[in-house]
Amino acid sequence: MAGRVQDKVALITGGASGLGAERARRLAREGAAIVLTDMSAKAGQAVADDITAKGHTAVFMAQDVTDEARWSEVVAAVMARFGRLDILVNSAGIASGGGPLLQVTFEAWRNMISINLDGTFLGMKAVAPAMVEAGRGSIINLSSILGKVGLAGAPAYCASKGGVLMLTKSTALELAPLGVRVNSVHPGFIETPMVINAIQRSDNGNEMRDGIISRHAMGRLGVAREIADGIVFLASDESSFMTGAELVIGGGYTAI
Ligand SMILES: NC(=O)c1ccc[n+]([C@@H]2O[C@H](COP(=O)([O-])OP(=O)(O)OC[C@H]3O[C@@H](n4cnc5c(N)ncnc54)[C@H](O)[C@@H]3O)[C@@H](O)[C@H]2O)c1
Repeated sequence: MAGRVQDKVALITGGASGLGAERARRLAREGAAIVLTDMSAKAGQAVADDITAKGHTAVFMAQDVTDEARWSEVVAAVMARFGRLDILVNSAGIASGGGPLLQVTFEAWRNMISINLDGTFLGMKAVAPAMVEAGRGSIINLSSILGKVGLAGAPAYCASKGGVLMLTKSTALELAPLGVRVNSVHPGFIETPMVINAIQRSDNGNEMRDGIISRHAMGRLGVAREIADGIVFLASDESSFMTGAELVIGGGYTAI
């Protein structure tokens, strides 16, 4: 039986860990050839090897998403190998290293904006020409519920993810007549290394975990599979009339 993204080629950044790794596996199971990239080469290669061992197609390339020249190399390599690029998932991101306004340094602010927002911009800029030339494509940008509502103590993260939301909408309007769809995904707090490490690093981990959970109407954290389900939908032709949309998968976090 044909998969939901059969024979498409998907480029996924931040594919070595958490949400990126899960959606690489899901998209591969649904028939896409996967190119996953990450700063973390060992873990990224392991995810690609695992997908390949299950009989699917996956290659890994080391990439820092803030490096514009590297983006050109990655896209050129994808086109040389597969001859097409249908799906871009901008998932690489960081959440830690920011801190409250009264404490965050300009350097830490810039690092967060650079990876979460500049990295997304550079990714879209690098893949858009190939997608426009083909007259088709789906770009999926990982924002967050914290790109829609504020969280005290996280100005850089919230600003970077709010930036991704509006970057997505502007680009969606520009590329819609050219056949390319651009949507943002807004996960709630999901059990991934990003969230688990932040809880473990905290002095009051249990309290922090309970506090986070209490903001989700469903009374729990999400799991990576639940975000991957949304990504497959946006990547596939099932969402062919969606662009510039915000897919919130947040257990009710933003419903208040
Ligand atoms: N986990 C959550 O609860 C949650 C919630 C909302 C949004 N998000 C967003 O989803 C995305 C994925 O989050 P996750 O939970 O999978 O995080 P994660 O920490 O598990 O994975 C992020 C990956 O990005 C990679 N990365 C970091 N900086 C990079 C860079 N400069 N270049 C290339 N790769 C880089 C890391 O090596 C890591 O493999 C992020 O953009 C995050 O902000 C996550």
